[in-house]
Amino acid sequence: MRRTTVTRTRQTRGSAGDDGNGNRSPRMPVSAYNIRIDGTCFDKRYSVSTVRVILSGHDLEQRCGKQTRAEREKAHFSVKALNGTYRLSAISTGERVAYLNFHKKKMYLILAASLAVIIFWYINRDKPIKYILRDARYALHMQGVGFAGLVDDWLQGWRNKPMLPDGEKRIAVITGGARGIGAEVVKQLLKANMIVIIGIRRPEMAEKLIREVENSENLIVYQLDLQSLKSVKLFSSEVLKRYSTVHILVNNAGIMYGDYKLTEDGFESQLAVNYLGHFYLTHLLLPALKNGGTPQQVSRIVNVTSCAHYPGEIDFDDINMKKHYDTIAAYAQSKLAQLMSTRYINKMLELENAHVKCYSVHPGIVDTDLFQQTMFRKLFPWVMKMCFKTPQQGALPILYACFDKDLLQHGGLYISNCQEGYSNSFSKNIMYQERLHTLSCELVNVKFERFGKELIL
Ligand SMILES: NC(=O)c1ccc[n+]([C@@H]2O[C@H](COP(=O)([O-])OP(=O)(O)OC[C@H]3O[C@@H](n4cnc5c(N)ncnc54)[C@H](OP(=O)(O)O)[C@@H]3O)[C@@H](O)[C@H]2O)c1
Repeated sequence: MRRTTVTRTRQTRGSAGDDGNGNRSPRMPVSAYNIRIDGTCFDKRYSVSTVRVILSGHDLEQRCGKQTRAEREKAHFSVKALNGTYRLSAISTGERVAYLNFHKKKMYLILAASLAVIIFWYINRDKPIKYILRDARYALHMQGVGFAGLVDDWLQGWRNKPMLPDGEKRIAVITGGARGIGAEVVKQLLKANMIVIIGIRRPEMAEKLIREVENSENLIVYQLDLQSLKSVKLFSSEVLKRYSTVHILVNNAGIMYGDYKLTEDGFESQLAVNYLGHFYLTHLLLPALKNGGTPQQVSRIVNVTSCAHYPGEIDFDDINMKKHYDTIAAYAQSKLAQLMSTRYINKMLELENAHVKCYSVHPGIVDTDLFQQTMFRKLFPWVMKMCFKTPQQGALPILYACFDKDLLQHGGLYISNCQEGYSNSFSKNIMYQERLHTLSCELVNVKFERFGKELIL
């Protein structure tokens, strides 16, 4: 079947042309549409709104079969398209014949999008439609949030200039400090003369860091696996046996995406590592943090969350996602939980008049191993190198939360690029915050009213 393409011509009123026999055509009012039959016209409204005009000589003449100039000038003819017959005014002025070109690129885009939808549906064909739609929403929303995060880093990155004070042998505890963003935070904390205790899965992995850092004699490494509450408890008792005061706790360790896995305690793995393990550690170290804080120099809990919390919601009825697992939703949920818990615990501590403040920080979009489970890392590692923050840059907002004096008035703040970040409305709902805190206490088997109040060695 012949294909028909249609676009609206740019209206060049009264311009002259050659009729093909060497005669100049008169100036003439050009109205309506000029057409050429050479593409597929699916929809009149669509096609006439896509404007592209190419000048040429003969096709229109041939198509409409009009021979005299007068006939050509007034030619009204129909284009048979796939979905109907359109009556279009067509005007030929000899050489100046407008082609009405369907935008083929748009057609390819529509085809590619349809193909993507079909592939997405095929991969998820065993799932009920409501879950397919939910997963698609999360996937799209996460791409948007990631891109917005990148743009924010480009525009606001200049703000990241935290001042490092002299830590005067104060004590910092950080989870996951041997690589990625955490390692850079550790280097700076040591530079600030702090004693730094890091919790990592394999302590031998810290050897390289110990060789590299300044003041390495102040670095202490203990084993910690956040997938296990037992390990969290062992880690905290090692810390508390050595030091009865702690001044900074950075809950930094994290994992992103991966297959569904339950930990030995029965928690979904991203929730366990990113949130529940840290929640329990905070409970265990809070007495030491309270000991370390003074009105002049409050202790700080810094939860490293992410802009990826934004599409998230807490599924209170199925927080471990046993009914349906979407790894993107699980990451978003775990990061949202960190943010909400920061706000709730900070409020709790204010009511107790404790000299401890909590902050949550989005470090930026940073080129680290966190992305190893993503296609993006496999396909575009060079984009990550070029466009993402370095781990050193990612560490700066965390250091800001650890040290900035102006933040004392803003406990509970969510920080991105050293200023307040955008957080979703779910995270601001106080009832949800309390519900999450209650549920988390139940999950880690801590009495609500005893949270952070007993020293457990
Ligand atoms: N990179 C980004 O763009 C980005 C953006 C927003 C937020 N964040 C957050 O920033 C934090 C640091 O991420 P990163 O980019 O530095 O990632 P990374 O390079 O992959 O480092 C992750 C760290 O988490 C530790 N970890 C993982 N599982 C653990 C477990 N079960 N127990 C104890 N430690 C564990 C790792 O320690 P091991 O050495 O023991 O494996 C490692 O030190 C994470 O919370 C992440 O969600 C990162």
